[in-house]
Amino acid sequence: MATIFPTYKQYPMEIVSGHDWHLTDDDGKTYLDFTSGIGVCSFGYSNSWIEQRVSNQLGKIWHTSNLYPSSLQTEVARMLCPEGMLAFFCNSGTEANEAAFKLARKYTGKSKVLAFNNGFHGRTFGSMSLTGNQAIQTGYTPLVPGIEFADYNDPQAVKKITNDFAAVILEVIQGEGGVYAGNADWLQAISKRCHEMNVLLIVDEVQTGIGRTGTKFAYQQFDMDPDIITSAKALGNGLPIGAMLGKETLASAFGPGTHGTTFGGNKVALSAAKAVLEQLTPEFLTQVQQKSQALFAAMNEKLVPLSVVDSISGKGLMIGVHLNNQVKVAEVIAELQQQGILTLPANHNTLRLLPPLVMSEADLLEGVDQITEVLETIGAAVNSEV
Ligand SMILES: Cc1ncc(COP(=O)(O)O)c(C=O)c1O
Repeated sequence: MATIFPTYKQYPMEIVSGHDWHLTDDDGKTYLDFTSGIGVCSFGYSNSWIEQRVSNQLGKIWHTSNLYPSSLQTEVARMLCPEGMLAFFCNSGTEANEAAFKLARKYTGKSKVLAFNNGFHGRTFGSMSLTGNQAIQTGYTPLVPGIEFADYNDPQAVKKITNDFAAVILEVIQGEGGVYAGNADWLQAISKRCHEMNVLLIVDEVQTGIGRTGTKFAYQQFDMDPDIITSAKALGNGLPIGAMLGKETLASAFGPGTHGTTFGGNKVALSAAKAVLEQLTPEFLTQVQQKSQALFAAMNEKLVPLSVVDSISGKGLMIGVHLNNQVKVAEVIAELQQQGILTLPANHNTLRLLPPLVMSEADLLEGVDQITEVLETIGAAVNSEV
């Protein structure tokens, strides 16, 4: 008898344990993990510093409520926020975007928001309505009104931003959409235009943030000045936590009683976030950048020439391998699982790689070799059928 709503199409094995960047299933088979649980476990599955911080907190107190001040929230907010921003803690990426959407409307008194086709911001009504993917919205109408869409990287989108918009929301790299990066000039033009038009810029860093692209937030690699940043996924390395960060000037719209959530800022989740941010040092980020360079060099040499690969994209350790229509990404993922390597899909037949940021360079390169082998074999089989 079924017990769980079938909202997820699941793989055949259950993952029962993990160490560093290796996972083991219920049959005892081990895998090299290029997923991080969809960009979550960036410090791997046995990070002793996170374990220590979380067990210390478990021994003290798990939860109070937001009716009492929390020095842990203050500490994590200091480590997380860019200069001049405040944090609101919640439990997921979609909630962080809900908070951003609500704050933007309340602060500006305007209702319109510009979002982008092929973007993804979550599954609750506000975030889903901001998500530029009809498949995700089907069956849920009426959606939240006042949202318009433009094409990502389209110069026309910049002109569309007029002062009757409350906000523009975007990802610096569209993750679920297929790992498509914003062009530097375009991102900069959007940011500039938002400020000229008094429109708030919300940068969704749920997938790109916390070091995934080689800097704490991906927008920091571009000339952008967001008013609001959303974060989640890797922030707690697997404990559920999200955060909306916004400029101090916005605080007047988010006074007592305007927004809230019971579990937001939970002490156990916050203790994990503190341990994550303590380890997200400039030296660590430099290592991520170096590993990324080695990985992209190997992928350019080995994956790009393959007959089934159109191109590769991404930044840091957020990678999209764009497969052509000779193969289906689901089949590639299944074959890679057989070979002991876990990967992810993204839209447009993209094989997405989000390895733990702590993975050794040797294992990252080993992964490229294994993916190359599998794609070569699949490509050869496809070509022999033709
Ligand atoms: C860019 C982006 N925003 C928001 C979300 C939603 O986050 P969550 O699943 O934690 O609600 C995701 C999840 O994949 C995401 O990639």
